[in-house]
Amino acid sequence: MIVLGIETSCDETACALYSDERGLIGDRVLTQAVHAEYGGVVPELASRDHVRYLLPMVGGLLRDCGVLREEIGGVAYTAGPGLLGALLVGSAFGAGLAFALDVPAIEVHHMEGHVLAPMLDDASIKPPFVALLVSGGHTMLVAVPEIGRYEVLGESLDDAVGEVFDKVAKQMGLGYPGGAALAKLAESGRAPTHAGVQGGVPPFPRPMTDRPGLEFSFSGLKTRAMQILRQVEAGDAPEQGRADVARALQEAMVDTLVIKCVRALEQVGMRNVVVAGGVGANLYLRERLSATLVQRGGRAYFPRQAFCTDNAAMIAYAGWLRLKAGQGQMVSGFAARARWPLDQLSPLV
Ligand code: KG4
Ligand code: ZN
Repeated sequence: MIVLGIETSCDETACALYSDERGLIGDRVLTQAVHAEYGGVVPELASRDHVRYLLPMVGGLLRDCGVLREEIGGVAYTAGPGLLGALLVGSAFGAGLAFALDVPAIEVHHMEGHVLAPMLDDASIKPPFVALLVSGGHTMLVAVPEIGRYEVLGESLDDAVGEVFDKVAKQMGLGYPGGAALAKLAESGRAPTHAGVQGGVPPFPRPMTDRPGLEFSFSGLKTRAMQILRQVEAGDAPEQGRADVARALQEAMVDTLVIKCVRALEQVGMRNVVVAGGVGANLYLRERLSATLVQRGGRAYFPRQAFCTDNAAMIAYAGWLRLKAGQGQMVSGFAARARWPLDQLSPLV
């Protein structure tokens, strides 16, 4: 069976084909450029660009992959969570196409797509594991005893990890979203030093790690980073100062995530962590978490870089798994959900 996956939950328009025999046949992602000048995603503009690009993109994907419409055995689309207008475009398209082709459709939860993304390249990844979801909108630790069963262990009470990177990056003039640019800049930053001994910035706090629990709160750390940033920008070496702040911020954020991952593993008695979401592309996070888990006899799994950020390959894959489990529906309507708690999903079998 060939499954067409559609993703339109935010500002990426994406589609992909996944099949039993060939695995991922092909995928397309378009990151909408229209939002850059606004410094953030403008929901209405996102919806309009999805309308504009989705249909030709799916046509091009089928053509380039040599797949006929009639060969599509199911359509999987992101039904939530995300921007409602944007989700409606993909949902209407996905449900409409499934109806026209007389094949089942399946609503995919965007975050389940992210959790399963590493499996696109490594079929040996199996639950139980803890998933760390770190994107521009989410920071979550989730226990995954089996695919489809998600127990949220902790979340951010305020800013998401990617949001903090993006806001500080924006203040540094690195554009939007600036997480990757901030990580690049951090490479030339000096190690944080107490009292600024070598002229560097002091280390930033690791919020909420000194008390029990698996919640996160990053807004204080963000404010601290902004304060120090203003100081170094007013100083005589603003370029180096910015890099120092980027490094201190990245170290504090990653340290906090690693500490909480280990705590989550201890709480639920598991050994492995699957990282998902845009911030999973961060190389420092990859190195630090991998090294820490190997020492504990476990492993950290990450999707390939391109599948960390929003894509339809993960949606096609999640949909394919559920369609194979008989959870597809012949279309009688469609829905999109701006909010959709992850723990409301049903297990795969
Ligand atoms: O999952 P995603 O594509 O979108 C959401 O659903 O939010 O994640 C995007 C986020 C942005 O905040 C972006 O700055 C961040 O992931 N990001 C990174 C890196 N690459 C992307 N943050 C830190 N380091 C990176 N290398
Ligand atoms: Zn996402």
